[in-house]
Formats: sequence, C-alpha cells, structure tokens
Amino acid sequence: MSSKKKILVTGGCGYIGSHTVVELIHNNFEVIIIDDLSNSSIQTINNIEKITGIKPLFCECDLKNKKHLDNIIRYNKNIDATIHFAAYKAVGESVKKPLTYYQNNITSLLNLLEVQSNYNIDNFIFSSSATVYGHPKKLPITEKNKTQRPFSPYGNTKKIAEEILEDIANSEKNFSCISLRYFNPIGAHESSLIGELPNGIPNNLLPYITQTAIGLREKLSVFGNDYPTPDGTPIRDYIHVVDLVKAHVKALKRQLNNQQESNFEIFNLGTGNGYSVMDVIKTFEKVASRKLNYEIVDRRNGDVPELYANANLAKEKLCWKAEKNLEDMIRSSWEWEQKARK
Ligand code: WQD
Repeated sequence: MSSKKKILVTGGCGYIGSHTVVELIHNNFEVIIIDDLSNSSIQTINNIEKITGIKPLFCECDLKNKKHLDNIIRYNKNIDATIHFAAYKAVGESVKKPLTYYQNNITSLLNLLEVQSNYNIDNFIFSSSATVYGHPKKLPITEKNKTQRPFSPYGNTKKIAEEILEDIANSEKNFSCISLRYFNPIGAHESSLIGELPNGIPNNLLPYITQTAIGLREKLSVFGNDYPTPDGTPIRDYIHVVDLVKAHVKALKRQLNNQQESNFEIFNLGTGNGYSVMDVIKTFEKVASRKLNYEIVDRRNGDVPELYANANLAKEKLCWKAEKNLEDMIRSSWEWEQKARK
C-alpha cells in the first residue's frame, strides 16, 4: 500500500503541468495525469520518466466527458488533491472563438469539481493568471488589487473560474482551494527534455524569439515601442517555470498540512521584477551570442504598458521566492529550443 500522497494533475502533459509533475515526483508524491493531448504530446510522459526515473500514470481524457472522468476518478481511489491546469490558453484564439473557450475551460472545471466532490477529494490548486487584474491601476500588483474584466475570453475564463471556486469554498467548508496567479512563465527544465511547445505560431514573446533565432520564423515583430516605459516597450514580470512550479508544491503542502488561513486563498506568482521587451531581446542576444532579427510594428490590442507582481504574500505564507534571473530563464528556453528541433 503506497504511503505516498496521490495527486491528480489535469493538463499534466502541458508546459506548466509537466514541470509540476516533475517537481511533485521529486517531492515524493504519486502523480496521476489526465490530459486530452489537444495541446501537448504523449512523449512528455516518457521525458518525465527520463528526468525522474518514474513514469506517472497517464489517462487520456477530455474533461468535458464527465462519464469518462468519473470512471477514472472512481478507479483511482484515494486521491488527496487535484492541481488543475487543463484549459485552452491562447489569448488571440480565444478572441476569435469565445464560445469554444467558455465551453472548454468552464465545463471542464465544473465537471472536475462535481466528480471530485462525489469522491470526497477536497483539496484543489487552480492555475490562474495575472490577466484577471486587467489594466492595473497600481503597481506592483498585490492580491488585494481588484480584479477587472480581462481583455480576452481566455482571461475571463480564469476570472470566472476563480469566482466559481470562491463560491464553492464559501458553501463547502471542507473544500480547500488555492488559486495561483501566474505572471509571465518562461524557460524550460535544465534537462531540455520538457519545455514550451506552442501549437502553430507562438503568441508569447520568448517562444517567438527562440523560433526566430533557430530559423523557424523570419523575424520577431515588436508590438510597439511608444509605451510610457523607459525604452517604450511594455514591461512584464517574467518568471522561470521551475520557480513557478516549486510554488505549486509549496501551496500543495500548505493545503495538505491544513495550514491554510481560509479555504480560498490567492497568491501572485511573479519575481517582483519587471523587464521590457527590449530587455528580453538584448538578454537573448547576449545569451545566444547572436543578433536577433526584429522589427518594431504597431501595438497589439489589449497589451498593457506594465504588469509586475508584489510577490510578498507567497514569500510570507508559502515560504517561496523566485530564484532564477532573466538570463537563466532565457538560456533554458534557448537550450530547449535547440534540443527540441534536433
Ligand atoms: C509579452 C510582451 C507583447 C509577442 C500572456 C497572457 C497571460 C499569460 C502570459 C497565460 C508584450 C510583446 C509578444 C510578440 C511582442 N498566459 N510581444 N511580440 O501578453 O504579457 O501575457 O501570456 O496565462 O495570460 O495574456 O505575454 O509573451 O504574449 O507578451 O512584442 O511576437 O511581449 O506586446 O508586451 P502577455 P506575451
């Protein structure tokens, strides 16, 4: 009989999910992955095994299929907590297909919550996003900043999900939820066996930079340099994905050890440092020892000038602080990009 705590990870083959699974295994948790492989690869399971020496149990399942999900949860007894990553996450795509995003991201959440309540799984870690803050009025952003309507249906599914989770926590005292609001996760595991594998043309800055540098893209378009920032390009709080997932394990242990001060807690996961697009480009050129082909073009709709975290609450309550710097983040992405194309 395994004495290990058993953790269900939805979206565990994805970018953040796979790095979290590695960290969970390193922390002696038993992991069950549910993933529909719509934006990830089954090869990730083998790569997790190469990194950790342990092959996590994997169930291919679309969370919108409640019957299938129920069968999986019924069969895998004694799950101690769920970490929920599975969601569509392309901001631009969500603007074009809002119904697809609401149906997938909200229905999946509701099915998961309903099924796990039937099997008394009361601990829930939710993958949220700083996009719920909308255009921040005050910087750095603390968890006390009011949320605003996000610019994209994707972001709004995260805000709605948090409101659903808070309502359930208010009505079910046994239900514990920690929502983790990510700023800008980038980077890859030091093994270069797992990393970000965007489907199609990358929406995000760093994958687009590394794909340009490796010759997959002709040049990077810098979306505007007329913002009210020192070099005119927008500022973001980039955080290494490995730092980010270490916070997930800290949050999980807080939950399992009944250390939560309320049964619905929110933590910002950022470094507290902001870097501009040009900072990222120049750091990449230094790390990769090559010039990047880029062009300044018009602004992208919905972009805000500055977004960076006050990460003190996570430091205080989770005893967690991001440790890796921008060079570490960019170097790990570049190494991953080169290896992933071999
Ligand atoms: C960063 C900066 C762009 C691409 C999004 C989501 C957020 C989270 C992280 C999921 C911006 C500029 C980008 C390019 C560019 N995702 N840029 N050329 O928009 O801060 O956040 O990803 O949770 O929810 O909203 O990240 O990487 O898209 O952009 O100039 O080709 O890079 O204008 O200033 P963003 P990003």
